[in-house]
Amino acid sequence: MKDGYWLMGFQYELTGSLYSLGRIPRCKVAMLERLKPGDKLLVAGVGHGTEAIEAAGRGVDVTAVDISKTMLKYMQKKIDRVKPNRPIRMVNNDILQVKYPAEFDMVIANYFLNVFPQEKMLAILTHLTTFVKPGGFMVIGDFTLPREGGRFYRAFQTAYWYVAAFIYWLTADNAVHPIYDYPALLKSLGFEIEEIKHFKMLGMNCHWSILGRKRAGNESSPKSAAEQQSA
Ligand SMILES: C[S@@+](CC[C@H](N)C(=O)[O-])C[C@H]1O[C@@H](n2cnc3c(N)ncnc32)[C@H](O)[C@@H]1O
Repeated sequence: MKDGYWLMGFQYELTGSLYSLGRIPRCKVAMLERLKPGDKLLVAGVGHGTEAIEAAGRGVDVTAVDISKTMLKYMQKKIDRVKPNRPIRMVNNDILQVKYPAEFDMVIANYFLNVFPQEKMLAILTHLTTFVKPGGFMVIGDFTLPREGGRFYRAFQTAYWYVAAFIYWLTADNAVHPIYDYPALLKSLGFEIEEIKHFKMLGMNCHWSILGRKRAGNESSPKSAAEQQSA
């Protein structure tokens, strides 16, 4: 399995925190309050495991998946330091090779989907949504989609993303692409957007955590704009 983080993995957590003036770590744990002890959480592309370890400390049953041995090694170091209340199941595999149909109360993809070109990202997001129980949550933490404010505001948000994307294209072979519209994608996959938390830098929304709830089988999907118009 390809380990794109063998070289830069050691500094990943620290530089993310510095680059976001501490917003990324806060964004990663933003939706954990929706979980209770004993709930089942899967964290995809877990990296150093900030949210996974925090959740295990709160008594949540955590499964963490990452393709990179290097990232999991740093996560293990953090576990040894923090010693959370519950053990964490750590799976070193490609997320597309693991299958957990409707097993989890929450699936988190923090700064994970942005690693991939659009087609693969869609395949992975669709795959992840199959892990969520009906009525459960899918959480995506990432760079904010620039769609508000003036030209300078949106240019800053866009440039802020591309600088990070370019660095990880150089060092980890990640994809460089426009910021994805995760709320729209989640809606198209049968989720209702229950909450979005924003994390500002220099007064501008630069990071967001999006909480989608999977509709239970007996809930009807909202009418499309075209259906509403013809009603
Ligand atoms: C940008 S890092 C984000 C890490 C972590 N979620 C965070 O917020 O700090 C992307 C992570 O996804 C992992 N990854 C990339 N492709 C993967 C795949 N196909 N399956 C599982 N993990 C993968 C990488 O090894 C890396 O740890």
